[in-house]
Amino acid sequence: MVPAHVPADRVVDFDLFNPPGVEDDFFAAWKALLDGPGLVWSTANGGHWIAARGDVVRELWGDAERLSSECLAVTPGLGEVMQFIPLQQDGAEHKAFRMAVMKGMASRFVVALEPKVVEISRELIDGLRPKGHCDFVAEFAEVVPLNIFLTLIDVPLEDRPRLRELGVQLTRPDGSMTVEGLMQAADDYLWPFIQKRMAEPGDDLFSRILSEPVMGRAWTEDEARRMCRNLLFGGLDTVAAMFGMVALHLARHPEDQRLLRENPDLIPAAADELMRRYPTVGVSRNAVADVEIDGVTIRKGDLVYLPSVLHNLDPASFDAPDAVNFGRDLTPIRHTTMGVGAHRCVGAGLARMEVIVFLREWLSQMPKFTLDPSQPVRMKGGNVGACTAIPLVWDA
Ligand code: HEM
Repeated sequence: MVPAHVPADRVVDFDLFNPPGVEDDFFAAWKALLDGPGLVWSTANGGHWIAARGDVVRELWGDAERLSSECLAVTPGLGEVMQFIPLQQDGAEHKAFRMAVMKGMASRFVVALEPKVVEISRELIDGLRPKGHCDFVAEFAEVVPLNIFLTLIDVPLEDRPRLRELGVQLTRPDGSMTVEGLMQAADDYLWPFIQKRMAEPGDDLFSRILSEPVMGRAWTEDEARRMCRNLLFGGLDTVAAMFGMVALHLARHPEDQRLLRENPDLIPAAADELMRRYPTVGVSRNAVADVEIDGVTIRKGDLVYLPSVLHNLDPASFDAPDAVNFGRDLTPIRHTTMGVGAHRCVGAGLARMEVIVFLREWLSQMPKFTLDPSQPVRMKGGNVGACTAIPLVWDA
């Protein structure tokens, strides 16, 4: 049922989890919406708005007053299960918890972590190079962010295989685990570490964050769980998806591979531009007040979906937005890949460093690589769109 306040010309049949053609091209599937009005009502998934033009995406994303983050996603029930901190908080409470997380992830810690990220990447690349081929998603993109996360929270190496399956379910769920099951498995795994860090803080990420007081008091155990869960769920599939898009771009553009191999100084700017060009995250908000925008009213209680792809790839946001141009001026950052406003990604510095290290290490240690023409690239939709298979080949 379409609510009475939604004009008929705004109604679309668009399932964000499965837009038409997404298996072949996530970006093209979404961009079909750019031809219509700036705000549309999707009848899929219980009915919700989708911001479908760059200026509308950005304006609504910045409106933390009238659009709450509590709901987490248009998927019914997901928000109640996850209860992420700080992602699902609003107002002063959000600010207090976010501040503690930001302090724990300050740039000096990101810089200090870089050698470890280099080591993790090199080890994997050394194993892959002699094979001459790989499924980049399963064999690199999904492995590195998980290992980095475990390094961040100081989990011993021998424990890592236990979290590998969970990591795969987080990045490529095969339906064998419910959201509740997944959340429980993550909590069960993380809990002993959280408890230990709360009792005897070390110098790992969890310890740093949990020893920052929030609103003048210590974190409760429940809050600690919800925050650690947010970091685990927030920093795996997003980074894996970004690695995948970057690798796919380079496999399809040998001229950019060559450019970056010959000019490694361009890599930080290339990372920024590739992150702008390949935005995969969309977020949900629930309106806590009426919002007039684009000639329609978002009513209090409505859900709104904000896809970063429709901001970054709108020609009104960036000139020739589909083109990858390493010389593009992206300062100050105007893209929404990492969000915008009160909830902008707290892991943005870490994610950028991970992409830069990946580009440096992969391009300096792998020969020229291409897509394997005998196997397809596969993509999926969802709150984090991603490649599910990227068959790469190179001369071993
Ligand atoms: C390329 C990789 C990444 C992308 C594309 C990404 C994207 C985003 C986006 C779009 C938001 C805003 C959410 C909203 O407005 O509702 C966000 C928030 C967040 N991200 Fe990331 N993220 C990435 C990596 C990471 C990493 C590595 C971590 C931590 C290990 C992380 C942790 C978080 C957290 C905790 C928040 C919530 C911030 C808040 O609510 O104040 N993310 N991310």
